Amino acid sequence: MTERRDILVTNALPYANGPIHLGHLVGYIQADIWVRFQRMRGHNVFFVCADDAHGTAIMLRAEQLGVTPEEQIARIKEDHERDFADFRVNFDNFHTTHSPENKELAEYIYKQLDANGHIKKRTITQAYDPEKQLFLSDRYIRGTCPRCKAADQYGDNCEVCGATYTPDQLIDPKSVLSGATPVSRESEHLFLALGEFTDFLREWTRAGHLQPEVANKLQEWLDAGLQEWDISRDAPYFGFEIPGHPGKYFYVWLDAPIGYIASFKHYCDNQGIDWQEWWKPGSTTELHHFIGKDIINFHALFWPCMLTSAGFRTPTKIAVNGFLTVNGAKMSKSRGTFIDARTYLNHLDPEYLRYYYAAKLSSSVDDLDLNLDDFVARVNSDLVGKVINIASRTAKFIEKTGGKLSNEIEDPALWERFTGASERIADHYDKRDFSRAMRDVMELADLANEYVSRREPWKMIKDEGQQEATNQVCSLALNMFRAIVTYLSPVLPALAEKSREFLNADLPWQGATKYLGDHEIGKFKPLMVRIEKEKVEAVVEASKESLQAAPAKPTGPLADEPIAEEIEYADFAKVDLRVARIEKAEHVEGADKLLRLTLDLGGEKRNVFAGIKSAYDPAKLEGKLTVMVANLKPRKMKFGMSEGMVLAAGPGGKDIYVLEPDEGAQPGMRVM
Ligand code: 2FM
Ligand code: ZN
Repeated sequence: MTERRDILVTNALPYANGPIHLGHLVGYIQADIWVRFQRMRGHNVFFVCADDAHGTAIMLRAEQLGVTPEEQIARIKEDHERDFADFRVNFDNFHTTHSPENKELAEYIYKQLDANGHIKKRTITQAYDPEKQLFLSDRYIRGTCPRCKAADQYGDNCEVCGATYTPDQLIDPKSVLSGATPVSRESEHLFLALGEFTDFLREWTRAGHLQPEVANKLQEWLDAGLQEWDISRDAPYFGFEIPGHPGKYFYVWLDAPIGYIASFKHYCDNQGIDWQEWWKPGSTTELHHFIGKDIINFHALFWPCMLTSAGFRTPTKIAVNGFLTVNGAKMSKSRGTFIDARTYLNHLDPEYLRYYYAAKLSSSVDDLDLNLDDFVARVNSDLVGKVINIASRTAKFIEKTGGKLSNEIEDPALWERFTGASERIADHYDKRDFSRAMRDVMELADLANEYVSRREPWKMIKDEGQQEATNQVCSLALNMFRAIVTYLSPVLPALAEKSREFLNADLPWQGATKYLGDHEIGKFKPLMVRIEKEKVEAVVEASKESLQAAPAKPTGPLADEPIAEEIEYADFAKVDLRVARIEKAEHVEGADKLLRLTLDLGGEKRNVFAGIKSAYDPAKLEGKLTVMVANLKPRKMKFGMSEGMVLAAGPGGKDIYVLEPDEGAQPGMRVM
């Protein structure tokens, strides 16, 4: 037996401003499986997490809902805890970064960094929303791309042409929060001088804490040179005020990882455990952070610097997982593949997903695809068709032959395959190669099923003289089943629990290699049912619904020509619409579609060519009031200049209707 390890495991802290979805669950399920496995191997494991409660997004969300940020994060925390519990992600402690422990630790770590000379002060100029009265990060500013002129692009990059820029380079920038034009404003900020840690990081990132592809990425960043990291934000901000700097708050990403320590401390204080033993430099305990690949920089660059400078140990391993795709594409709300944990749970057993993720997870940072057809096929074939099948086709013959498993191992060579697999499968789990572990287990399940098919206990039982032999065959089958369920139990804790009852035996890892003989078992009950495809379809449907609940399906013209992309009021306000009288309307020689209109704007005359010939006799138009775009740049056309545009509705041909204002309107009036 290897030495007992002391292991602290954390998962990335979910933001307290939205529900857990299947993408998040990849990392949580991965970590939970690993924790359960290590515990089965006899190690001492603590598993903690918390809500990541600070930042502008959470503050604004609360404001939008008309509650305090504290109320908002408390609500979300309940939802998150319920989702995790129902997916059997079993944290020892789920805390929040908005806690006294975290405040104290964040202040302490900051003061250490400052005392060690790593905090620099600098005045920076930033975009400021004069209406909302807050500084705007890039994501809260939109405007026209300076390169390709695409409208409505984010403050830092253009989704159309891929240009990157600073918000002040945007054409006509607007605050997403108020629509106001941002102004530049100066403010003093605090920075962590990461460059001072370059040597330390060069060594640390190559010392076996990271997956090779992650270490390579970091090397690129280190080679490019590390910028100072801005760790402060101005009020109003939901977070912790920085000691000695009234009105300045810790940036959410400074206190978020400190939340790992805070959650663990909170747990230890309740349990009477010395948390500092686990966090001091040179601690013999292990620290494993499970995270997604989008937050590598925070965990593998900034975090080790903070820890080491403040006199804490650094992580043993950072386990990075890839993103989730569904049916080969990014999760999509319109396709119904952006699936919340709760929506899934309303229809399906969490163990299906735990198994599917396990079957696809390796120790690499590759993305993981949840193909919904494959999900159904794989779970049904592996778990129900192979694993459960071993028990369901043999349990009844044990009942019929006395209800007890035999001591006699009917096929010792076969049984040895099962005991011999134990350490190999354990090794796969330990290295987070869950897909290999699952493959090895399914191979065992195939062997067990082949054995049962070969022996045909349903025929043997009919022979009076073969009762004992039947019992021996089924005893071996159920021992193989027990080993398989044991090997699967980190992934499928509920199946393991039900199997324990049925087998009337515990399922410790070491037990899988010990033959259960002369042992009375319980009654067999179905342990897992097949996934019905319809339920998966219902999940997808419900995920669509939650997005499109309100509006009914459009019909007629609205269906033929759907409403265009949303625009800002400011965009609309640029169009100057005016009431105009059609003074004269005439045919244009050589033009099939156009009429020449002379419009009176209440003093000013305009010559406009309008494509309405197919629908109007010119004489009928004269004298009518209509609406025109008065500030449209004049366009040179074949028959002359067109100085504006008349508004008309309809698809074309005879179906064109010039807009007319209600009685009383005067030429030149502004149309709003
Ligand atoms: O990316 C995120 O969802 C963050 N809330 C993760 C924080 S992990 C840790 F550092 F707190
Ligand atoms: Zn662009």
